[in-house]
Amino acid sequence: MESISSIILAAGQGTRMNSAFPKVLHQLAGKPMLYYPIELTRKLNIKKRLLVIGFQAEKVKKNTSCFANDIIYVYQERQLGTAHAVLQAKPYLADFEGTILILSGDVPLLRYATTKRMLSHHKKSSSACTLLTVDIENPEGYGRIIRDCQKKITGIIEQCDLSEDQNAITEINTGIYCFNARELFSSLAEVNQENNQQEYYLTDIIKIFIDKGLLVTSITTQDKKEISGVNSRIDLARANKEIYLRNAIDHMAKGVTIIDPENTYIEDNVKIGRDTVVYPSTIITDGTEIAEKCQIGPYSHIVSSFIGTETKVYSSVVENSIVGKYTSIGPYSHIRPKSEIGDQVKIGNYVEIKKSNIEDGCKIGHLTYLGDASLDKNVNIGAGTITCNYDGKNKNTTTIEENVFIGSNNSLVAPVKIGKNSYTAAGSTITQDVPQENLAVARARQKNIANWAKNKTKK
Ligand code: UD1
Ligand code: CA
Repeated sequence: MESISSIILAAGQGTRMNSAFPKVLHQLAGKPMLYYPIELTRKLNIKKRLLVIGFQAEKVKKNTSCFANDIIYVYQERQLGTAHAVLQAKPYLADFEGTILILSGDVPLLRYATTKRMLSHHKKSSSACTLLTVDIENPEGYGRIIRDCQKKITGIIEQCDLSEDQNAITEINTGIYCFNARELFSSLAEVNQENNQQEYYLTDIIKIFIDKGLLVTSITTQDKKEISGVNSRIDLARANKEIYLRNAIDHMAKGVTIIDPENTYIEDNVKIGRDTVVYPSTIITDGTEIAEKCQIGPYSHIVSSFIGTETKVYSSVVENSIVGKYTSIGPYSHIRPKSEIGDQVKIGNYVEIKKSNIEDGCKIGHLTYLGDASLDKNVNIGAGTITCNYDGKNKNTTTIEENVFIGSNNSLVAPVKIGKNSYTAAGSTITQDVPQENLAVARARQKNIANWAKNKTKK
């Protein structure tokens, strides 16, 4: 395959976002906007990938480094326009002969298939430049494609430089291009700033190419959403919706039932097994794996966790944890990071579990906090029980062996160990280890004062 390099333009501030942060770091489906074009170049297997940054460059670098490991960051100190941005990449591609794919950091919905099609058209047609253009109803804000009477492209005019009759043109420049590297860099220096914004427009290169007799062609796409530029918060909200909807559609195709795809928020890089049902208003984040036949939601938030077969998570939060098979969680419970919950566990209402290991068959039905705890098989935790795991300095562990029955409203003051098959009485404050098979009673004995009420009223 012919060699391809890519340049993603992302140095601008994004003034129309009205934000203190660079536009390309705004979140789309749980990831910075830049994740999407960078991921696209990774999937295309492009070896040399450049990213032009400028506005708050260090912040952009820091927030993209985890998904941009072999990206070359190119600095554009002053944002003088898109042509100037591409020019900054020239020293890195001096000896490169081949195709340069140019993507915009603020066009995150561009599809892999379209880009692939564009690259192969570019090669087949031997174009010096291939444009991705689309006819849209409301072309406001985009550069317009100018064609002659034979429909040949002659140039691109930016919105603010349009004449009145050009204003009616509905074919727009998407900001996605393939260029012959040599022709691109030898013509770039000819672009000037003679326009209403006094910027070096990359789009001016089209006329320069045409004047040199170079071939400029275009392809289009039926999906008009994929080329939307994100320039405002409204565009951001639309792009968010579109990514979540695409992800939901992908999972449905793989056999997942999604009750209301418009109100389900599944991030990239999530696996869900067949016949799992995802109920509305559920958020599932990157790195999560959910097995088959589960019921997730409504109103659940699963953060980078594993959920086993036929498990239910109803109106609850599970963060960075592992949950086994045939288990049920919720409503209104919170599994905090580093917890491991076994099979056939029942976690009911208002239960918080933190960094704990809960073995198979445990029941933790109501209003409980377990932190730094280890529960062996078939432990029953009575309502209102808490582990007192923090002494103000250290986190201490609570160990509960198999078949233990903790009565309601216990305080388990850690470090403490409750032996196999033992019981604790309701209302106990357990401060000492309980040997196996024992009953621990750790509460004041009840005293009934005869006729107390009658005597009180007499006074
Ligand atoms: C650009 C195109 C326009 C096209 C539209 C599609 C130009 C002159 N115009 O307009 O024809 O219809 O995209 O979305 O290219 N950037 C830099 N350095 C700069 C300026 C911009 O890196 O000096 C980056 C921005 O961060 C952004 C991208 O280039 O990611 C596009 O810039 P933007 O200002 O958004 O251009 P548009 O006005 O949208
Ligand atoms: Ca833009």
